[in-house]
Amino acid sequence: MEVLDLHQLHTSALLIEQQNQTLFAKVATDLIAKGYSIQPFALPIDLSNNLVTQVSSMSPQAFVEAGIGRLNKHMHNDFVRRDEICWISGNSEAGAQWLDWTNKLQTYLNQHLFLGLFSFESHFAHYATGSFYKRHLDAFKGQANRVLSVVAYLNPNWQIGDGGELVLYQDELDTQGLNVIPALGTLAIFLSEEFPHEVLPAKRDRYSIAGWYRINASSAGRVDPPR
Ligand code: OGA
Ligand code: MN
Repeated sequence: MEVLDLHQLHTSALLIEQQNQTLFAKVATDLIAKGYSIQPFALPIDLSNNLVTQVSSMSPQAFVEAGIGRLNKHMHNDFVRRDEICWISGNSEAGAQWLDWTNKLQTYLNQHLFLGLFSFESHFAHYATGSFYKRHLDAFKGQANRVLSVVAYLNPNWQIGDGGELVLYQDELDTQGLNVIPALGTLAIFLSEEFPHEVLPAKRDRYSIAGWYRINASSAGRVDPPR
């Protein structure tokens, strides 16, 4: 009996790994062709559910008002963004599981795309009703060491009328963009320097994880910490 259970466990772990590899391959193909990849309901179900449980169990005090800009990290600007964030350290089981999954994606992309992804940082974000994040880029050309943005959505039963869409623009000139509904398990992955994007006002509480893979920007005499 125990052998059977272990066998089943082993089989399901293998299945999840296969699903991951299939997903990572789709992401890599998209990144090569377009520089971005939108994958509806793609995050492994167990991971999605654990992250939802985690985020809904966190006290509002765990979230801090988000800042803008790298140089003035402590500058807040209500006009630009109204979300609240909590950096993921891997202390919680769900957080650790997320970091494990993003690490697998990192390994896959490094093996297949030679992006040289070196480290990863991510935070939970809470957009309360009425919150938004105006059009922005996650990294600026030249000085950037954030190379790839990954956003995962944690909202079960998100309805069209709930707002809060991510709008991903092709370039600076694009004014139409591509709308992504922040439904549970959906992933948006894009080159951080290339795609301006915004979050439209949410009409109910909206949760996501935003993360960035960075290249190692260390040079002699200047160490670039993961965060
Ligand atoms: C960000 C961001 C998008 C989202 O945090 O930089 O663009 O949909 N988030 O939560
Ligand atoms: Mn962004």
